[in-house]
Amino acid sequence: TKPLRIALAGLGTVGGGVIRLLDTNGALIARRAGRPIEIVAVSARDRSKDRGVDMTRFEWVDDTTALAQADVDVVVELVGGSDGPALTLARTTLAAGKSFVTANKAMLAHHGLELARAAETAGVALKFEAAVAGGVPVIKGLREGAAANEIERVYGILNGTCNFILSKMEAEGRDFADVLAEAQALGFAESDPSFDIDGVDAAHKLSLLASLAFGTQPAFGDVAAAGIRHVLAADIAEAAALGYRVRLLGLAEAGPGGLFQRVHPHLVPVSHPLAHVTGATNAVVAEGNFVGRLLFQGAGAGDGPTASAVVADLIDIARGEFGPAFAMPADALTAQGPADAGER
Ligand code: NDP
Ligand code: HSE
Repeated sequence: TKPLRIALAGLGTVGGGVIRLLDTNGALIARRAGRPIEIVAVSARDRSKDRGVDMTRFEWVDDTTALAQADVDVVVELVGGSDGPALTLARTTLAAGKSFVTANKAMLAHHGLELARAAETAGVALKFEAAVAGGVPVIKGLREGAAANEIERVYGILNGTCNFILSKMEAEGRDFADVLAEAQALGFAESDPSFDIDGVDAAHKLSLLASLAFGTQPAFGDVAAAGIRHVLAADIAEAAALGYRVRLLGLAEAGPGGLFQRVHPHLVPVSHPLAHVTGATNAVVAEGNFVGRLLFQGAGAGDGPTASAVVADLIDIARGEFGPAFAMPADALTAQGPADAGER
């Protein structure tokens, strides 16, 4: 059978994880996908970097954006950044009639609607399971699993770095900066970690979840965000004494004034399941009018879990599953302004 041919842009934490996952589980994946999935071309910034895997078997392409012209079926983008080479590559890949898989929530939060339209026009897939909650299949869960429901609200812990920092500060009384350095060393943090700690990354993800849950156009500008930069160990201790834990939550819900989308530190009662989510784990709750409350939970960052979600998208494409990127075709998604600021 004809393999699914892949070009891989970005060979860092997640890109390296994808190569290792396909090396380890390739035979099992080929059986499940109905055909092998083969990386044929790769690109990153520095060709000479030791990446701990044999790179000589792949064609190296110096200009990352030129991967769109490679002889492949799918381009996988694991570079990052809302614009720049990631966006150029997305646009040129879809215009060339090839499917596109990405973990880049920043780009999708800003340009998701345009890219979804481009994929539909070309009749190819745009997939991004890894963009929200790492290895947790929450995109598929909302888009397919909960598709029959009216969703009342969706909320949860969407940033692994912040949850790692808050739970370490809580358990070990350590300083913020010290724990952030550890999260960076483990590969959880964004290249600009202020995106994590200021709530921007969680806001990117919330805009995608809100779109999937409510059938609205993804609109990062409609999300109000505050992060954990000013949370002190003393705040966490005081909250604990009162029976609460501090968690950075994203919440989207439909209200009379419109769709609320906000990210900020919350006091979560210890009786709530989200209070017990620790480390780089993410957890998303969605409440549907027929299914009731769904809880999606698992590793929200890191090479293995994120690669698992990327390859799940590739398996879908290998099987010919090319549904809409968001809740429905792009032109049917409704425009939604920010909810009445007075109600925030
Ligand atoms: P890394 O920083 O580890 O890797 C980025 C890769 O992109 C590197 O290989 C780098 O090249 C390459 N790169 C950077 N800039 C350029 C450029 N201008 N042109 C060409 N190549 C470039 O990032 P991650 O793997 O952590 O993240 C990748 C994407 O996945 C991001 O969108 C991130 O938000 C997302 N993500 C990350 C998760 C995680 O846990 N890390 C989880 C979920 C999503 P070189 O190696 O040569 O420097
Ligand atoms: N920096 C992100 C986080 C990576 O910590 O959650 C996963 O999207």
